[in-house]
Amino acid sequence: MPTKDEVVMPQIAQERFERLKAHTANIGVIGLGYVGLPLTLLLSEAGFKVTGFDIDVKKVSDLEAGRSYIFRIPSEDIQSARKKGLQATTEFSKLAKMDAIIMCVPTPLTGHREPDLSFIENTARSAAPWIQEGQLVVLESTTYPGTTEDLLIPILEAQNAHGLKVETKEGRGGKGVFYVAFSPEREDPGNTTVARHDIPKVVGGHEPIATELAAVLYEGIFTRSVRVSSTRVAEMTKLLENIYRCVNIALVNELKVLSLRMGVDIWEVIDAAATKPFGFHPFYPGPGLGGHCIPIDPFYLSWKAKEYDFNTRFIELAGEVNEAMPEFVTQAVGKALNRHKKALNGSKVLMLGMAYKKDIDDLRESPSLTIIELLRQEGAEVLYNDPYFPTVGKGRHYNLNMTCTPLENLDQYDCVLIVTDHTDYDYEEIVRTSKLVVDSRNATKGIVSDKIVRC
Ligand SMILES: NC(=O)c1ccc[n+]([C@@H]2O[C@H](COP(=O)([O-])OP(=O)(O)OC[C@H]3O[C@@H](n4cnc5c(N)ncnc54)[C@H](O)[C@@H]3O)[C@@H](O)[C@H]2O)c1
Repeated sequence: MPTKDEVVMPQIAQERFERLKAHTANIGVIGLGYVGLPLTLLLSEAGFKVTGFDIDVKKVSDLEAGRSYIFRIPSEDIQSARKKGLQATTEFSKLAKMDAIIMCVPTPLTGHREPDLSFIENTARSAAPWIQEGQLVVLESTTYPGTTEDLLIPILEAQNAHGLKVETKEGRGGKGVFYVAFSPEREDPGNTTVARHDIPKVVGGHEPIATELAAVLYEGIFTRSVRVSSTRVAEMTKLLENIYRCVNIALVNELKVLSLRMGVDIWEVIDAAATKPFGFHPFYPGPGLGGHCIPIDPFYLSWKAKEYDFNTRFIELAGEVNEAMPEFVTQAVGKALNRHKKALNGSKVLMLGMAYKKDIDDLRESPSLTIIELLRQEGAEVLYNDPYFPTVGKGRHYNLNMTCTPLENLDQYDCVLIVTDHTDYDYEEIVRTSKLVVDSRNATKGIVSDKIVRC
């Protein structure tokens, strides 16, 4: 891999490079969701002229009106970005004016748990006609190695209006070319210990000029970029990170189930192990995986691996263990009620927390959704409280139509079930006023009460 000083840029790329370095470049961000919107604001804050693109008319009109639709982003941040020139639009023709285009569209699984790349494909088709000579296109969506080169680039080349081709490693001398890179988003929603701009940004170009263009772009908003030799390495880096989390969470979930049987407090064990200054990184058990990343991304790789006649056993096993956790929590509620001489059938359960993890407003793939379904199947009446969700309606895999229940008169419930350990909850008070608390997050750590059942 050439060092950045060894990369020789044709004039058209050099001009874009200088604009990116000086923060005077026009940047288009496609997909203004949990990843794209904060990125748009970071770019705007750094002085870039930013235009956000989305097919969701409501998101675009909210942004144009200075309104945020993501809980942790205040509307004032949108308004101040608007003053700095942030625009939002559904008109993809405006992409023609951009120096760089960053794509942050969803990469979910289909109903058969296979990669659903339709969002990347559709975005590529919408963008392709407007791609200009010398432009940089960066894909940020999490996906399997090969997506940028085998799916994105062919669409951009086949459907752009000027017959442009992607720059190659051999070099086309800047004539009739555009540049393509992959750079994974590594944000950890709700994490307040590491500022987003301090998370190093991995960038891998299709060839070295694209790597340098992407690196200089991200160095405008992140403390550091990490250059890798190809888009495939960058794509695989993100998957390794998420598979590492998925497998380790499965490990502690399995050990939690065993520890509960053995009468050992797994959370105390993890805290003790975490004092080792090397070779151990703590992961914590819970009611199951959630979010748009950890429950999904590993299966992008296991699907791709089949093409290579390869079975990703760790991923499959971790998936099996983690997916069993909502059922485990449901059974724990049943057993806890049984000890109170009650059946799950007919019991009134208040679930605390709908979000897939604490202090965020993201419900995607949340184990709470499965737990509600399982409790209802057993005949329980389930209500929920979550300060981040006044209502829960319909999503990709659920249709609940529920309204947040106030956190009061907790003794009216047969069981209070903690699924998300939001910081704002007063757990002492919750335990004091409830008849029975089933805690799947160790949120009641340090509270001594025979009303608590940890699971
Ligand atoms: N949310 C996270 O914390 C996180 C973290 C790391 C990586 N990622 C990855 O980033 C990507 C985006 O995730 P997200 O959480 O922001 O998703 P999201 O659903 O919040 O946002 C995606 C946005 O893309 C828009 N969109 C869909 N199709 C489009 C199209 N054809 N043209 C223009 N806009 C389109 C949607 O309307 C939506 O606003 C995914 O690949 C995800 O795996 C997410």
